[in-house]
Amino acid sequence: MTQLETMPVEPLLTHDYEIRRAEIHDELRERYGVVAPVDLLGTPVWLVLGYDEALAVLRDDNRWKKSLTYWRAYAEGRIPADWPLLPALECDMMVFFDDQRHRTARAAFERAVRPFQDPSRPSARQLRALITQYADELITFLAGGGAGRSGIADLCGQYARPLLLMVTNRLLGFADAKGDEVTMDVWRVLDAGPDAAAAIERLMAALQELVLEKRALPGDDIPSYMLAADPSVSTEELAWELYLVVCSTVDLVGTLLCNTVVEVLTGDTGARASLSAGMVGETVNRAALANPPMHNLTFRFPVTAVSLGGFVIAAGDPVMVSPAAAHTDPLFAQGIARNATVSSRAHLAFGAGPHQCPGRDLASSIVAIGVQRLFERFTDLRLTLPKDQLPWRTSPLVSGLRSLPVRYVLSDGPVSTVPFTPSAPVAPVVHATPEVRVTAEVGAFASDGSVKPARSAFWRMLDGFRRRPDAG
Ligand code: HEM
Repeated sequence: MTQLETMPVEPLLTHDYEIRRAEIHDELRERYGVVAPVDLLGTPVWLVLGYDEALAVLRDDNRWKKSLTYWRAYAEGRIPADWPLLPALECDMMVFFDDQRHRTARAAFERAVRPFQDPSRPSARQLRALITQYADELITFLAGGGAGRSGIADLCGQYARPLLLMVTNRLLGFADAKGDEVTMDVWRVLDAGPDAAAAIERLMAALQELVLEKRALPGDDIPSYMLAADPSVSTEELAWELYLVVCSTVDLVGTLLCNTVVEVLTGDTGARASLSAGMVGETVNRAALANPPMHNLTFRFPVTAVSLGGFVIAAGDPVMVSPAAAHTDPLFAQGIARNATVSSRAHLAFGAGPHQCPGRDLASSIVAIGVQRLFERFTDLRLTLPKDQLPWRTSPLVSGLRSLPVRYVLSDGPVSTVPFTPSAPVAPVVHATPEVRVTAEVGAFASDGSVKPARSAFWRMLDGFRRRPDAG
């Protein structure tokens, strides 16, 4: 058996890891094979680089557990309390549950998300129309109402993130004013700034309050459907699951949206060709293959010693599956490149096996609409920086951008292609006057893109991001 703790390991997160990740994985593969011991922020872990090995680990939840109680070094108190990844792991939510507890929570979640994910359901159809409308509102807004037709914008801060905050508000069924505060707090948490700790406390309190409200007055939203699926779930546990929904929707879906735009504009994986051919689902898959939003997954721990790659891994060792590395595994990548042998849907960006993302279809359709609206509304869209100079986030788990600066030219085309028909009892959007559209969740702005005095903090913040459009 190989003792992970005593092996000489190189730091995985080098200063250029974000832009040289594929080369770093190739170097590790050459040196160790499909599994490599690495140093993750001072803690030794096994990194799974092979596609088949990744699938084998992800599919077998009898042998591979997710709860931190299986982590030997953690149980023995050898992980420092201030280890930077701990806050992301010490969360009491489904992705870290095992066995029956996992199955119960997951079944409730699958039932709760189905109304929004199954395209034949009214809530799913309404959501698609709403996302289209939100996307159009944001595009009009960032382009200053279209007055200048061309300009510079940050598609991350001014489009992807606010779009996903608005969608999250709808999925969670927040009342208007409350949702506004919560969206701002999600923003603060994700930016991990000085006010993040206070924001996460407020956010968890707001989510618990939301659960209590939905217990009393259920609506057409994920918390109410989760309560209906499992009325015995505690308020605290449900708040944690909702926290996972918020982070996944705002951060991961927003990240995939931006990564897809980058792949269409700069990639050589066929993302642009599939978008031109109207196959936007394929475009999203190609982007998820090229740059999975979760480039590494949170740890799994074997319950007994197990052979993987060239090593015997001891019970309780942390094992990190890397979708990004698995996608560049030559055996898998060659199959994808030949197109016929492996479908682009075989990517691991949403994981695989019993913990595979239950929001996969929802996430993909949000990204597809978001990307489609951008490329329909802008006749020209190009990065203002070369791809490797974009501000990639430094994160052991998420591969995304801090901002996505583009130069755009707005088209004269129609604003929305999907008809919107609000369905009772939820009527999230009302048309107050022909000039002023009011989006119930977030505030108000005029159809020429100017901000009305009654605007919310959310739209004021977006207004602060706007650059004045070019004259031409
Ligand atoms: C592009 C966006 C998304 C990506 C890349 C993504 C990725 C993933 C991955 C890789 C996992 C598995 C983690 C593991 O096996 O360790 C996962 C699990 C999960 N995701 Fe997503 N996700 C996305 C969007 C969403 C959305 C929109 C929701 C909810 C509406 C969601 C809810 C969940 C939940 C509840 C789990 C835990 C499932 C379980 O443990 O059984 N995700 N996601």
